[in-house]
Amino acid sequence: MKTTFLSSVVLALCALQVSGSPIEERSPSVQKEVREVDGGFVSTCTDTTVNTSNVVLTTTCRNAAGDPITSSISLNSCIANANGQVVFRVGGNFANSCPGRAFLFTSTSAEMFAQCDNDSGQLVSSTIDLNSVFTNNNGILTCP
Ligand SMILES: *[C@@H]1O[C@H](CO)[C@@H](O)[C@H](O)[C@H]1NC(C)=O
Ligand SMILES: *[C@@H]1O[C@H](CO)[C@@H](O)[C@H](O)[C@H]1NC(C)=O
Repeated sequence: MKTTFLSSVVLALCALQVSGSPIEERSPSVQKEVREVDGGFVSTCTDTTVNTSNVVLTTTCRNAAGDPITSSISLNSCIANANGQVVFRVGGNFANSCPGRAFLFTSTSAEMFAQCDNDSGQLVSSTIDLNSVFTNNNGILTCP
């Protein structure tokens, strides 16, 4: 199971490199639920990690004065499982129904690759760019 998921992540990564713009390729039904946000965090935050067991993201962001501040936030507070797809929703609490979780942080994006139960109880793969969900709020990571 784990190996299969990792393989699909590798495939997804390859697909990302080929297509270059995964966000535009999301189906229209998913796109409606993905909130557009200015700001993001990857350009002003470093040392971003996620504890994959409790889905707490920790990162160090510059505040307005330029000082580095380390903060943590649970992805459960902002990500939901919508019939197998990971989407933005405050208090979404996705993790219990999304056993597969992997992350790729770059200087321009923070992709989460997830495998979630859909409404029929079957695992479905989807991705979300956490940079479109979380914001550097004067040094503290928040959503929105
Ligand atoms: C990750 O979360 C689990 C569950 O809360 C905890 O037991 C573990 O210590 C955490 N790992 C790190 C590196 O913080
Ligand atoms: C759940 O996923 C399976 C496999 O992709 C699909 O056949 C099924 O229709 C999905 N169920 C729902 C409710 O979307």
